[in-house]
Amino acid sequence: MGFPDGFTFGVATAAYQIEGAVAEDGRGPSIWDTFSHTAGRTAGGETGDVACDHYHRYAEDVALLADLGVGAYRFSIAWPRVQPAGSGPVNQRGLDFYSRLVDALLERGIQPAPTLYHWDLPQALEDAGGWQSREVAERFAEYAGIVAARLGDRVPLWFTHNEPVVSAFYGYALGVHAPGKALLLDVFPVVHHLLVSHGLAVQAMRPHLAPGARTAIVHNLALARPAGPTPEDAAAAAALTELTVHLFTDPAYGSGYPAAALDLLPPAGLAAIRDGDTELMASGHDVAGVNYYAPQYAAAPSPGNPLPFDLAEPPAGLPRSGLGGSVEPDGLVELLEHLRDRYDLPPVLITENGAAYPDPVAEDGAVRDEDRIAYLASHLAAVRTAIDRGVDVRGYFCWSLLDNFEWAFGYGMRFGLVHVDYPTQRRTPKSSFAWYREQIRR
Ligand code: FCB
Repeated sequence: MGFPDGFTFGVATAAYQIEGAVAEDGRGPSIWDTFSHTAGRTAGGETGDVACDHYHRYAEDVALLADLGVGAYRFSIAWPRVQPAGSGPVNQRGLDFYSRLVDALLERGIQPAPTLYHWDLPQALEDAGGWQSREVAERFAEYAGIVAARLGDRVPLWFTHNEPVVSAFYGYALGVHAPGKALLLDVFPVVHHLLVSHGLAVQAMRPHLAPGARTAIVHNLALARPAGPTPEDAAAAAALTELTVHLFTDPAYGSGYPAAALDLLPPAGLAAIRDGDTELMASGHDVAGVNYYAPQYAAAPSPGNPLPFDLAEPPAGLPRSGLGGSVEPDGLVELLEHLRDRYDLPPVLITENGAAYPDPVAEDGAVRDEDRIAYLASHLAAVRTAIDRGVDVRGYFCWSLLDNFEWAFGYGMRFGLVHVDYPTQRRTPKSSFAWYREQIRR
């Protein structure tokens, strides 16, 4: 396809989805330990207790990354390993693990690109109010400073949050993710504390970072599409875009919250905003991290729905991935052009993109995941198109290196370029691994 010189190819993972070793070397419990161990919260009651056992097998996994030929690896750091109670004592053994991982990556010429928060809030902080409390934003900044003091000499690219829209809406508005709160639109203070904590974290990290190190936030973005041709469905899709895209991207890449989103929210929550927050939320964006999977469809809200939209199925006839989302690479081009037109946007990194499929193991032991190759190829082509149209995209990270614990869906959903046989922990590169390696090599 031909990507510009310096374009970075990588893969992404997250701590709770791969590490396991939840009670080892001083790690404290997180909201995902609590949630996954609560009856009825995850498919089959599955948990991340063992996951891919990456905590013990990281050297083998770094060797896979080297074999794949990626230039960068986006992983996440588990706050409860570093600060088991989310405040107070630092657990050096937790930091040691990430320090070893960073060194192993650098030895192979792979750029480490950690995310500080991929949803695993220390349970002690949730008990003290979680992201509903501004205090947690202050604690996050302290933790970010602790990590930067240890790794800042070696890490050139830092992400604060992964997908605050999902942390807030799935975790605190709808309750399908940890901590399982159902605040609906009263969720705004959670959104605000997450976004403010990005700015506070960058302030705390900066003194420890090497010159030229870049900081960013990762947003999960797609412009919503109307389920049908009516003006009511169009209005519902516009509302969904306001609440899941602009509510997050305007404060980061523009200036403050969009009125069109605030108008949809109960006014009481807006009391969370303090003087100076607009500047904090807009700081520390050296690149724009964009995760893209699929557009969401919206229909006019049914009677009694407190939200300004019903979530709807994609139109019949569109290809679907295993998680049920549509496969629409044109939505990525549309999104990137929209962001470019709406903001004075920093360079973009596609920080996650991928798809789940059943991935059966054939009798000869191979996993021929042609559907994943088609998904990835069409989305890489979309990135290429966006670049041709003038969007400054500098890199692409595939989700994910390994099959892993897919949150509430458990282990049934496989996203990896590498198949994991959970009982034996055997890793088997799929056909998509060889395909991606070839794209990178070219
Ligand atoms: C994203 C998450 C990631 C993974 C993929 C499939 O929203 O960031 O952890 O679950 O979806």
